[in-house]
Amino acid sequence: MKVIVTGGTGYIGSHTIVDLLNHNFEVVCIDNLSRSKKYALEGIEQITGKKPIFYQIDLCDKEAVSKVFQEHKDAIGIIHFAALKSVPESVEQPLLYYANNINSLVNVLQAIHTYQIPNFVFSSSCSVYGNADTLPVTETTTIQTAESPYAHTKQIGEDIIYNFSKAHPFHQNILLRYFNPVGAHPSALIGEIPLEKPNNLVPYITQTAIGKLQQLTVFGNDYNTRDGSNIRDYIHVCDIAHAHTLALQYLIDKKNATTVEVFNLGTGKGVSVLEAIAAFEKVSNQKLNYIIGPRRAGDVVAVYADKTKASTHLDWHCQYTLEDAMLSAWKWELKMQELF
Ligand code: NAD
Ligand code: UD1
Repeated sequence: MKVIVTGGTGYIGSHTIVDLLNHNFEVVCIDNLSRSKKYALEGIEQITGKKPIFYQIDLCDKEAVSKVFQEHKDAIGIIHFAALKSVPESVEQPLLYYANNINSLVNVLQAIHTYQIPNFVFSSSCSVYGNADTLPVTETTTIQTAESPYAHTKQIGEDIIYNFSKAHPFHQNILLRYFNPVGAHPSALIGEIPLEKPNNLVPYITQTAIGKLQQLTVFGNDYNTRDGSNIRDYIHVCDIAHAHTLALQYLIDKKNATTVEVFNLGTGKGVSVLEAIAAFEKVSNQKLNYIIGPRRAGDVVAVYADKTKASTHLDWHCQYTLEDAMLSAWKWELKMQELF
């Protein structure tokens, strides 16, 4: 069965393509390479022995999108990862984020409608919950005002999909709300490739440990948490990836009760920034150079998932621990020294 993956050379997309190929899906990958490298395709081939069909196109180009979808109208589904994802960049350049993330989604939905591709899986984010007032966060936790234009594009994206599905109930949709994806494939052949200085914790940790960055700043240790630092739900990217294969299969098997279903993808376990650093130090045998600094604007104090729905409906269970994720991230950082 053929599946179209947008944003497929990116971090989560590339790990998901590996999982799809390993489960015998044929993959058509689309990416404009604005935030990733073509190298991911080599890594995917080395791991799986298989090669996805690749198109370098911008999903904001409606005609180019339509052409690819016409060629692959026999696809059983599409997984739409392509988006810009930096929270601070979205605050500085909101229009870039609205233009890219919304136009690309609209063009993709238009194309799946024109060519009657039945199943659609969308990359959403726990950032849609904003500052959630109850923890853990379930899929029915109230959506608060978005904390950034990036998060707002995910809220708008979800709304667009709901409205699309009301008008066109032929299409079956799943929204996957990721918590904090971290780590890399255990082979160290693919992983996240930050093209600029990273904002996210784990690439910041590994780049500090290897000496690309001088020092990590922990953004605050005066929060009302067990050690004063923020709490997040860090989940191994390979666990996130497999959830996409299961979500797609769930739609193919017509197990969905409604035309749009939402799932949280997190481990269900909150981990503090200081605990994450300690886990990294333990598995990598590296002493990390870090200081405690002021709070970062816009950070939520604590957020972690209730993952019951994905476990029961999709039969999705995490295979990897935080230590596995940290070790794989470190191995990938070392590998990148050889590669780039
Ligand atoms: P990524 O930047 O590694 O991958 C996104 C890919 O989309 C990149 O390869 C980029 O080149 C491509 N892309 C962007 N705009 C495009 C366009 N107009 N046309 C074609 N390709 C385009 O990001 P990721 O971490 O793999 O994230 C994948 C998805 O998951 C995104 O939608 C992101 O918002 C969402 N998400 C990520 C996280 C996270 O922490 N990584 C958390 C929650 C949600
Ligand atoms: C943010 C977004 C999320 C988005 C994700 C990926 C929000 C609320 N969350 O997650 O939607 O999908 O980025 O781009 O907008 N930290 C440090 N020092 C650092 C870096 C991070 O202490 O140098 C801390 C942060 O304060 C935070 C934790 O590490 O407590 C995780 O930060 P980060 O990896 O940036 O992810 P989020 O902010 O949780």
